[in-house]
Amino acid sequence: MLETARKALDKPPRWRPRPRSVALWLAAVAAGAMGAVAISAPAQAALRDGAAIQQGRFIGFAANAQLLCNNQASCTSGSNATYRNIAATEFNQVTPENVMKWETIEQNDDQYNFGPADGIVAFAQANGMKVHGHTLVWHSQTPGYVQGLSAAAMRAEMQEHIQALVGRYANNPTVVSWDVVNEAISDSNGQLRQSFWLNTLGPSYIADAFRFARQADPDADLCINDYGIDGINTKSNAMYNLVQSLINDNVPITCVGFQGHLQLNQIPSTLQQNLQRFADLGLKVRITELDIRIPLPSDQNELQQQAQNYATVVNACLAVAACQGITLWGIDDGNSWLPNSCCGNEGDALLWNANFQQKPAYAAVNTALGGGTGQVPGTPGTPTATNVTASSVTLTWTASSGTVTNYQIERATGATSTNFTQVGTSTTTTFTDTGLAANTTYRYRVRAVNSAGASPYSAIVNVTTTGGTGQVPGTPGTPTATNVTASSVTLSWTASSGTVTNYQIERATGATSTNFTQVGTSTTTTFTDTGLAANTTYRYRVRAVNSAGPSSYSGITNVTTSGGSTGGNCTYRIDAWNDGYVAYVTVFGPRSGWSMPFTIGANNTIINSWNAIISPSSGTNRTATNMSYNGNLSAGQSTQWGFQSTRPAGGPLPTFPDCTPE
Ligand code: G3I
Repeated sequence: MLETARKALDKPPRWRPRPRSVALWLAAVAAGAMGAVAISAPAQAALRDGAAIQQGRFIGFAANAQLLCNNQASCTSGSNATYRNIAATEFNQVTPENVMKWETIEQNDDQYNFGPADGIVAFAQANGMKVHGHTLVWHSQTPGYVQGLSAAAMRAEMQEHIQALVGRYANNPTVVSWDVVNEAISDSNGQLRQSFWLNTLGPSYIADAFRFARQADPDADLCINDYGIDGINTKSNAMYNLVQSLINDNVPITCVGFQGHLQLNQIPSTLQQNLQRFADLGLKVRITELDIRIPLPSDQNELQQQAQNYATVVNACLAVAACQGITLWGIDDGNSWLPNSCCGNEGDALLWNANFQQKPAYAAVNTALGGGTGQVPGTPGTPTATNVTASSVTLTWTASSGTVTNYQIERATGATSTNFTQVGTSTTTTFTDTGLAANTTYRYRVRAVNSAGASPYSAIVNVTTTGGTGQVPGTPGTPTATNVTASSVTLSWTASSGTVTNYQIERATGATSTNFTQVGTSTTTTFTDTGLAANTTYRYRVRAVNSAGPSSYSGITNVTTSGGSTGGNCTYRIDAWNDGYVAYVTVFGPRSGWSMPFTIGANNTIINSWNAIISPSSGTNRTATNMSYNGNLSAGQSTQWGFQSTRPAGGPLPTFPDCTPE
């Protein structure tokens, strides 16, 4: 049997959401078929349309089963149509806020109430979303009949409950992950929380819960979830040590949830670093319950600060490859757990206000996810040139209307040339261009960019640098290429004689092309060019510049990147720990189908794989073959597959004979 499990096939770590048009179609079909709320497209791009979401991250919300589905299993209506419409159109992931908790699912022993949970799962399925189950083992919201049991009976009750709940959705591809253990760490001292679970069963209750969940669903993501662990602190250190020991004990944990119940202007500065260190253990990470509360009543200033805080959190997640996505703990401020259940008089913590109007935080999250209003900025003013010297010029222009992420500044050399290349970006309306040749005419234009795209170009300004007084530098040596990989090359050359401000590095693509463009500058005699295509020949030349102008060009060096249809054409990276590792392999096009041998240690067990079929299911010699959706790669395209494996007693790491290390 192939080792790739069903949900590994369905759900690679970065599972793909349906395109929005399909999701809306599904929603409309569901609405029509069930008499449910009419789904209308929002005026601006929805959160789920953001580039980050299209590339595989999720954006989700905690669902109130009453507002969404009237607590019904069929979910044909909810008590709030506006809430329902936002839920259906803005998100591609949902966590039931309350109705998968023990007190709802099994208030009395063996009397199960799955209806409200089924409703949210049905809603998710109809609208192209994934469900994260919350939560199996928690010290809170667990009925008294469980808390009073003996150790043996409590453990058996835990297993039975997990089997019933997780097992119910194990074959449903909409339900992909679970909070298996919730809030197990104490707030104060970095120890395990003194709960009835710990007091009756001892620390092993955590590993037991994960093993029971894995028995019930062989391939769901299984998470430990907690609050107050968002930054690096005593509590998150305790969580780190806990998950490390669970991994060492082969407990089937695959993910850590950081709740993210945060306060205005108190976003931990170590958030990204903290997420990354857990990811470096080979685990997936996710922000599971994000809200950012404000002392009430909030004012406009605070709402703007809150928007920035939200962008900070989203950006931290996006900067970590293993961060699967973000779940907001509710949709609107009127139906949040805040301020009633917690934290004094603080609230207004979500993206929509109590009237379901979008707050500044909505736009900030939308932009951070790579979405936005869909409007490109207006055309910026024509640049004016000041401080013109023999080697530099300062440009200033009037701002574009609309939202601007930054401006791109382009330059052409010669009074009439239209051969513009970008020479820099600016987040303000000014830019100083340096390293110019003396007594030379340059042309400049700028345009503004935001998440929706680029504005039209400004008009062009011509600038002539002043005459230099000194000598231009001597001709530098012909560059030599080292460290040639499938995507990068390092160039070194002997220095020019004379004064050198910097060197300009130019590249042409193809073995004989003379169509050189500048790809960078260097103040040393070396430069690494990255982002290259595999198995492609490039030509490089350099020249030195000082205030008197540029030197002659060096000789030309041809370099062919590695990769290609024979041998290589793939790179790999291994994140290893004491007794396990995750391997990531990137396969480059052009390919029409691929098959890749690799070896693993004798006693290794592959516990999860994605984006490839691995066979045979045992032994040291294995082969990874493309899935149906990632076999055909054109030039410049790539796909990444990988797997997680044990390696008992720190055995050997895998080898990929066709591939080069990253
Ligand atoms: O539905 C009943 C209603 O019928 C009854 O009249 C009312 C009277 O109190 O209670 C209602 O249930 C409440 C439920 O929320 C739905 O509103 C419960 O009392 C109340 O305890 C429950 O609070 C939830 C809380 O967890 C405890 O389960 C919050 O909504 C929920 O947002 C909160 O979520 C937790 C996460 O699960 C774990 N992390 C922290 C997060 C915030 O506390």
